[in-house]
Amino acid sequence: MAQGLLGKLDRAAFLHRHWQKRPLFVRGAIPACGEWLERGQLFNWATRDDVESRLVSCDRGRWSVQHGPFRPSWLKRLPARGWTLLVQGVEQIHAAGAALLQHFSFIPHARLDDLMVSYAPPGGGVGPHFDSYDVFLLQGEGTRRWRIGAQRDHALVENAPLRILKHFHHSKEWLAERGDLLYLPPRYAHHGVAVDACSTLSVGFRAPQRQQLAAGFLDFLQDRLQLEGIYTDRDLPLQRHPARLPDGLLRHFSQTLQKIRWNQGDIRRFAGTYLTEPNAHSVFRPPRRALALPAFARRLARKGARLALPTRMLFGGEDFFINGEHHRVNHGHAAALMRLADERAVPPFVPSASAARLLHAWYRAGYVEI
Ligand code: SIN
Ligand code: CO
Repeated sequence: MAQGLLGKLDRAAFLHRHWQKRPLFVRGAIPACGEWLERGQLFNWATRDDVESRLVSCDRGRWSVQHGPFRPSWLKRLPARGWTLLVQGVEQIHAAGAALLQHFSFIPHARLDDLMVSYAPPGGGVGPHFDSYDVFLLQGEGTRRWRIGAQRDHALVENAPLRILKHFHHSKEWLAERGDLLYLPPRYAHHGVAVDACSTLSVGFRAPQRQQLAAGFLDFLQDRLQLEGIYTDRDLPLQRHPARLPDGLLRHFSQTLQKIRWNQGDIRRFAGTYLTEPNAHSVFRPPRRALALPAFARRLARKGARLALPTRMLFGGEDFFINGEHHRVNHGHAAALMRLADERAVPPFVPSASAARLLHAWYRAGYVEI
């Protein structure tokens, strides 16, 4: 029986009790889930070089992973059992994939990673494993048996090309059918096996790792660093040990490095640009014959605008971030842009001159569509 996305829970209760804490299985969460998804289409995506795809197979206990793009003739010759085809970033290439993510907009866009879709013949699966991030696993066509367990033992099979748990113990089991949802917090062991030919849609999240975040910030600082001057030693004393590091030189290093400063604004600008950076497979398609600014502004007033599927947009204060770029927008002009970022679309509105110029530049870059 259909219950709604989170079953009997409202979103606040889900966040409080389950998010990052414990799994949740919901029957009929999104009843017609993935009806737009056809096996032929998935196979077609796996042949494209602007789409990330993988084929995971298991033959007599030996796991292998191959990376796309795949040749169509090769995909046609796949055996009847024992494999899973996975396609990442489906929200960037199919409007229905992007629409599916809207169900999860009670979680910050900054935490969202992508929509992955898998297809497996009977018996197919990627083995017992855990993921590092939160995930909502939605069943499309067919039936998948999910087993999950709260084990602490995260030892992995050695020399396998993907992460497979050495010892998997499950404590719960479900047969998921179209529209059923399984939420798993990070590092929760799970194992899904296709009972009949089936597709699964995974809404995956991401969380910045401290080391990468810090390295990214140092990169960001480097681009905006401007320190004038050069070391001088006009009063150089006679050296007994020419190989010894001179105290004056060390002092100069220390004084220079202490001049590297940043403030909350820099951190926000870094966070926004870092988190909206497009991934390697994002392709933006500028309009073939772009409208000039006045015609574009009139169209905005009649039709509104929406974000192109691969676009990532966030904001904080008066700072707006789109696909790794930063723009400062006067508070009075920000309401429509905030709506565009939150809902990925904005209804017709009359833009201020500066908002029209900004949106027009994004439209010409293929970030925004009308
Ligand atoms: C799948 O869709 O086959 C695997 C999803 C997962 O277990 O994370
Ligand atoms: Co998983």
